[in-house]
Amino acid sequence: MRQPLVAGNWKLNGSLESVSALLAGIAAQISTVGATEVAVCPPSVYLQHAGQLLQDTGIVLGAQDCSDQDQGAYTGEVSAAMIREFGCTYVIVGHSERRHIYGESDALVAAKFAQARENALVPILCVGETLDERENGQTEAVIARQLDAVLASSGVEGFGKAVIAYEPVWAIGTGKTATPGQAQQVHAFVRDRLRRQDEGIAGGIRILYGGSMKPENAGALLQENDIDGGLIGGASLKAEDFVAIAASGT
Ligand code: PGA
Repeated sequence: MRQPLVAGNWKLNGSLESVSALLAGIAAQISTVGATEVAVCPPSVYLQHAGQLLQDTGIVLGAQDCSDQDQGAYTGEVSAAMIREFGCTYVIVGHSERRHIYGESDALVAAKFAQARENALVPILCVGETLDERENGQTEAVIARQLDAVLASSGVEGFGKAVIAYEPVWAIGTGKTATPGQAQQVHAFVRDRLRRQDEGIAGGIRILYGGSMKPENAGALLQENDIDGGLIGGASLKAEDFVAIAASGT
């Protein structure tokens, strides 16, 4: 039985004041989410502040990205070890905004995934196709390529303590959600690709859906066999909506 995970990806949003208010709002309603694990991923400069506010709430912390490097002359980077030191459990790697806006390659994402693992963080590896790729029938090929880059560098064992998020690029921040059937098909494809290498790891890994998930559509998505939670952008900035999504996972 896979424990559902609902993680909020706050992206480039927030201030000291709004982080406090949002976390207080989530913490106040957390008892309604049942067995679902709840994580929040604030911008990295707020991790320490958020970590302090989350103590004893049961809500866990994640970062939105980490460097592919350990340390050294890499201006602007934040290492996985630093993120770990600030109490994070999770780190998102390969989000489509990183891949498409900042040009991160499959190889770079695979190196970040490895860094996360080496520093005892659980990577949330994002994969997903663009609208063009979907319309050209390339969805599975794109996702296979993104997964295989990580399989090649970290091995299937690397997925023993990892989470995957299927995030169709055309559904992120657009209000368009994949139908439960569309999402389930890709989730099953992802699990099957891992199953070819390790049945146990494939069966245990949590595969989240991301892309305009909201309280109105979360229940139907989370009912699908291979959808084990959500990576939530816009709706994670409203405590009530975020908690309502998490509560639909149980
Ligand atoms: P969205 O973002 O929920 O705003 O579509 C999801 C994500 O990018 O993780």
